[in-house]
Amino acid sequence: MARVLRDGAFEGETHIVTGAAQGIGNAVATALAEHGAQVVLVDMNADGLAEAAAEMGKVAHVAPIVAAANVTDEDAVKGVIAQALEATGVVNGIVNVAGITRDARISKKSYDDFKLVMAVHLHGTFLFTREVAAQHWHPMFKANGNEPLDDGVNRFILNFSSVSARNGNIGQIDYTAAKGAIESATKTTAREFSSYRARVNAIAPGPVNTDMLAGVGEAGVAAMGRGTLVGRIAEPEEMAAVICALADPKISGYITGEILQVNGGLYLD
Ligand SMILES: NC(=O)c1ccc[n+]([C@@H]2O[C@H](COP(=O)([O-])OP(=O)(O)OC[C@H]3O[C@@H](n4cnc5c(N)ncnc54)[C@H](O)[C@@H]3O)[C@@H](O)[C@H]2O)c1
Repeated sequence: MARVLRDGAFEGETHIVTGAAQGIGNAVATALAEHGAQVVLVDMNADGLAEAAAEMGKVAHVAPIVAAANVTDEDAVKGVIAQALEATGVVNGIVNVAGITRDARISKKSYDDFKLVMAVHLHGTFLFTREVAAQHWHPMFKANGNEPLDDGVNRFILNFSSVSARNGNIGQIDYTAAKGAIESATKTTAREFSSYRARVNAIAPGPVNTDMLAGVGEAGVAAMGRGTLVGRIAEPEEMAAVICALADPKISGYITGEILQVNGGLYLD
């Protein structure tokens, strides 16, 4: 995608992006890499990840690091943070994008599907959030005499909610609950991580043109587009542009604990 920030805006920074093999996560990682970040690509789809890394390598300033992992696997997440630190010595930001849906009405929803959807979205987000603190930012805070890290280094967590967290969505009791929980977790994390001077925000997209909408069908997608005020569903690159802006302290240095609605006016909070 075209650059939306100044050239090299994230030069020297390491950004971890989950769900990077396809869809929004892929667009986000590509955009961050195009702005100079060393990206660490996380996904459970190892083949897709390798392809994504090769493609991204064409526009990235530094070759992406590939870290195939399931975001619900505690040891694997610990390993990703360790791998990033070993390779680059720093983690500036994490974008928690990985997600799934298992749509079914409540009466027909299997408990296994409910737990899996909660795990990928909420537990995955928690694990990455905890690990960057446990392995990296908190030890720095302690080494700084338990004083806030006013070192001018860019630090951020960016989480993914959905418009349906606040609006509800038939068939998605698990997904909407997980997204609502991610919004609350984002606020708590912002409070705790202020000691690290890390900004913690989330975006809540409306419908975006990815495989996640595949089950909705063409007519359903068109209807979703008509339901917005801009008259169409979004492209993944539009989410990536917003993520770039939130990751950039020059634009968003005074924004933390915020859930940004990026839904084309589908739902007005
Ligand atoms: N597409 C939309 O309309 C929309 C709307 C609102 C919010 N979102 C959110 O945006 C995020 C990205 O969605 P998308 O549309 O790009 O979906 P997508 O299905 O295109 O991509 C999701 C990616 O996450 C990966 N993934 C799934 N489970 C994983 C796990 N356990 N460990 C590691 N990787 C895993 C998949 O392999 C895939 O590459 C999700 O959090 C989703 O809830 C999407």
